[in-house]
Amino acid sequence: MLSREDNDLLTLTGPGTPAGALFRRYWIPACLSEEVREAGGAPVRVPLMGESLVAFRDTSGRVGLIGEHCPHRGASLYYGRNEDCGLRCLYHGWLTNADGEVLETPAEPDPDAIRRDVRHTAYPTHEVAGIVFAYLGPEDKKPLFPAYRFTEIPATHTYVTKSFQECNYLQGLEGECDSAHLSFLHRTLTGPLAKRAIFTSRQPKYAHERTNFGLRLIATRVTDDERLYVRVSSFVMPVSCWVAARNREAHIYVPIDDTHCWRYDLGILDGPAAEARSIDDRREFLGPDFRKRANLGNDYLQDREMQKHENFTGMRGFLTQDSCVTESMGPRFDRSKEYLGQSDLGIVAVRNRLLRAIKGLEAGREPPHIVTREADNDFTHVDACQVTIDRGADWREVLVHLAAEEAVPGTEPPPFHDPDGQLKRETGT
Ligand code: FES
Ligand SMILES: [Fe+2]
Repeated sequence: MLSREDNDLLTLTGPGTPAGALFRRYWIPACLSEEVREAGGAPVRVPLMGESLVAFRDTSGRVGLIGEHCPHRGASLYYGRNEDCGLRCLYHGWLTNADGEVLETPAEPDPDAIRRDVRHTAYPTHEVAGIVFAYLGPEDKKPLFPAYRFTEIPATHTYVTKSFQECNYLQGLEGECDSAHLSFLHRTLTGPLAKRAIFTSRQPKYAHERTNFGLRLIATRVTDDERLYVRVSSFVMPVSCWVAARNREAHIYVPIDDTHCWRYDLGILDGPAAEARSIDDRREFLGPDFRKRANLGNDYLQDREMQKHENFTGMRGFLTQDSCVTESMGPRFDRSKEYLGQSDLGIVAVRNRLLRAIKGLEAGREPPHIVTREADNDFTHVDACQVTIDRGADWREVLVHLAAEEAVPGTEPPPFHDPDGQLKRETGT
């Protein structure tokens, strides 16, 4: 459990909060590129860590992220005209650009009288792998964008989507760092998946290692045939976890406010893009506004017959299953009321890493994984995998290969590798 003070420290991310200050030192997702696809197209609202922002691709093709409310008298720029390399407010025509400069104040007789003094809220953006990342921190502390594997490969080999989560970001993030739940929440009762080690051996042993990006999280399970199933995930400061899913996926939990967040699923394809399956099947579970069709408001469309015969939850899809348990904890869970066990050691490590960084920044210490020099900018070793090895073998060998950015020998095919679509129908992944 956590003290209420530490729970607040970890979960409150608005302007002026300690975690808010920490998160604002990193590049974090603001929206998907596809939401602002068109130069001069419609802006999109971006509520982010308690701030009201709008993103837009200006007429020159540059993506801006600026305060939603016009610097003149606060009308929403979401409704504005995207023209002349800025957003023009509907009320009195002020034109604000992606740098927060007011370019025009057409209702004013002297064009320079006000606009020289006004600097609107504006944050730098960086677009990669279908995501518009933003940096909301102090200008003089802006880090380099980390060179991850997904920044080094063509966009054709990545896929991305996002979904609206009705809970604090940490509830979602903890689910990603919690290997034990896979054997229950995502368990299928019939078909080929039912026999997988992940579902039949239920008491993972945890280990973790501190890294220059966050933590490697290792869970090992003894399989029915007395081998060792090793699952490695990477917690990446401050709100990402890389997991071995269908492919390798980064799941990123971005606070909207203290009781809602976006989950971004960013996948990396190993094979040729043409052979890879699209993420679009995951979108079957989402509406056009990225809200889940099965959600808290309709009890996740739980089917009790399905629960008896098909899977543990009676719900289709990992996203639905994950969302059910993390959202049903409440909008912002009070961790002074929990009872932790051995199966929670992964999330304890993540909380401690975050708490140390939050408190360290308050004390004036630079957080981990802030990249300031090109020479240090190589994070292609951030990865995830699952592999079954001899029981007597040392699972640390797996980490050696990952750290060396090598394929891990004996890595199993993706657990939901599913050329005929059968498993997809079972799991909805
Ligand atoms: S409120 Fe936007 S121009 Fe007046
Ligand atoms: Fe899950």
